[in-house]
Amino acid sequence: MQGIQIIGMGKGVPARRVENEAFTKMVDTSDEWIRSRTGIETRYFCEDEMQMDLCVDAARQALANAGVGPEEIGLCVVCTITPDYHTPSSACMVQSALGLPEDIPAFDVNAACSGFLYGLEVVSCMLGSDALPRPYALLIGAEKLSRIMNFEDRSTCVLFGDGAAAAVIRPSDTHRFFCRLGSQGDAQALNAPGIGYPEPYIHMDGRKVFQFAVRAMENGIRLLEKETGTRAEDIDVFICHQANERIIRHVQKKLKLGDEKFFINLNKFGNTSGASVPLAMAELMENGRLKPGTKAYCLGFGGGLTWGAAYLEF
Ligand code: COA
Repeated sequence: MQGIQIIGMGKGVPARRVENEAFTKMVDTSDEWIRSRTGIETRYFCEDEMQMDLCVDAARQALANAGVGPEEIGLCVVCTITPDYHTPSSACMVQSALGLPEDIPAFDVNAACSGFLYGLEVVSCMLGSDALPRPYALLIGAEKLSRIMNFEDRSTCVLFGDGAAAAVIRPSDTHRFFCRLGSQGDAQALNAPGIGYPEPYIHMDGRKVFQFAVRAMENGIRLLEKETGTRAEDIDVFICHQANERIIRHVQKKLKLGDEKFFINLNKFGNTSGASVPLAMAELMENGRLKPGTKAYCLGFGGGLTWGAAYLEF
């Protein structure tokens, strides 16, 4: 079976960094509560930036790091729940800003915090198809969640952040890739009705999502072991959706896996939904932790309720 290789990544981060302390002026909360219950210390919020600006920054960096020109891109996919426009899609906006070829598919994927996992599977299927005239895919996870947050709701506003990360991907016979995706069709646990509806913000039953998250991650790891013939203890790095450090540590301890294998950067970025997994991956790559031969399990969960689990070789 044909695999995929991620050959370059980049980040797009808004200029404005916001400390936990800032929320004490808006709602009844404290730095101590946010740190101890979530692990989050700061996050970034857009001011003048559009979501597309973050996508373009991330994509330019990823292309430069991959040594690939925009004219070589055969597919452009953006994973997001907060596109600037309903139409055109963020992917079409990126296509225009970067001058990508016009004979390629460009579209968005909406699978909330599991978005990048869904995107990886879509890209891996399409890269093998004769329909693509060029060899590389540009896959971006991007969110401007500050646009759909209720800054009077302490149970959600302290959790999320804005950001983007991009990957340039090519088909490979030497890098195995396996992915499994799922969804529960649950509109209650986590939803954001959108502009035009009363209360068009993120609503969440935190405990229910927490329980779903640990189950989805544990099941995902077991499934990857079974389907790929790998063992969790032999995996070099676990790249998890960055929602809450307690979720990640709970799973890591239950499965008796080493602390250092579970990368965490939610302390800096908060939960950036579709951007969270690629932001973690981009930082791991920056830090030299995704070397040739590195084996990773990638785990996502979120609104939908969706989940995704992928095995990747670097
Ligand atoms: N500051 C201070 N107190 C807060 C607060 C805040 N920002 N947010 C909630 N609280 C309060 C609650 O009102 C509650 O008070 P009460 O006991 O008087 O009713 C108390 O803290 C405990 O609330 P609870 O929801 O049980 O806290 P928790 O330990 O479960 O942590 C979350 C809440 C949201 C951090 C946690 O449930 C979580 O991370 N869930 C998963 C969320 C997630 O991952 N979402 C994204 C999915 S992609």
